[in-house]
Amino acid sequence: MLIAGNWKMFKGPADAGAFCRALREADLGSVDVVVCPPYVSLAEAVQALAGTEIGVAAQNVHWAAEGAFTGEISAPMLRELGVYGTIVGHSERRQYFGETDETVVCRVNAALEHGLHVVACVGETEAEREAGQTEAVLRRQVGAIAEGVSETDELVIAYEPVWAIGTGKTATPQMAQEAHAVVKSILDVPVLYGGSVKPENAAELASQPDVDGALVGGASLDVDSFATICREASHS
Ligand code: PGA
Repeated sequence: MLIAGNWKMFKGPADAGAFCRALREADLGSVDVVVCPPYVSLAEAVQALAGTEIGVAAQNVHWAAEGAFTGEISAPMLRELGVYGTIVGHSERRQYFGETDETVVCRVNAALEHGLHVVACVGETEAEREAGQTEAVLRRQVGAIAEGVSETDELVIAYEPVWAIGTGKTATPQMAQEAHAVVKSILDVPVLYGGSVKPENAAELASQPDVDGALVGGASLDVDSFATICREASHS
């Protein structure tokens, strides 16, 4: 069971350091724990969590090792900082920054080649779910990764229905289970659920047979709430 906190564009280095020092002292149950701060706070988080089992991952990575790509960050640069992995293809990147299934595959491959663990995100929009296209969307998004990526040992998929992200609307455990089963039928890797995971719903979501953890946004920004989610998920 893996619980990853996606901080999005929150917490600069000072806040990140304070959060990570508090996290070191918290009871996190028996799950694997990863935090994903913004780029500028990664070094601080790595330092504050040194000597613990808690991993630090980025929220995105470029596919080239270096080059004329203004504003981008590469996998070797993240490795140099002591970063353990990265999120790729988050729906906010797909929605606002032109991420496509093709660029997701490029990023996943580059990250894996350079020894980063990867959480690749997929999920349908509200309109797609209402139109009965959830399975087709998952088949397209996960299929692109399955076809384009050769080794999957360090790869995890996060199923994040777009309508559940930051909205307070959570997929029911049954919806999550169904979607995770579809993902696993295409690509046999661990699958995290993401979308309004909170202390109150973490245990029930985590108890589904094909739910292998959670990618937590808003509720990961507070140490007590994040630690409670970790402990709740540990019980299932
Ligand atoms: P949320 O975000 O938990 O705030 O809904 C999840 C995510 O975007 O990874």
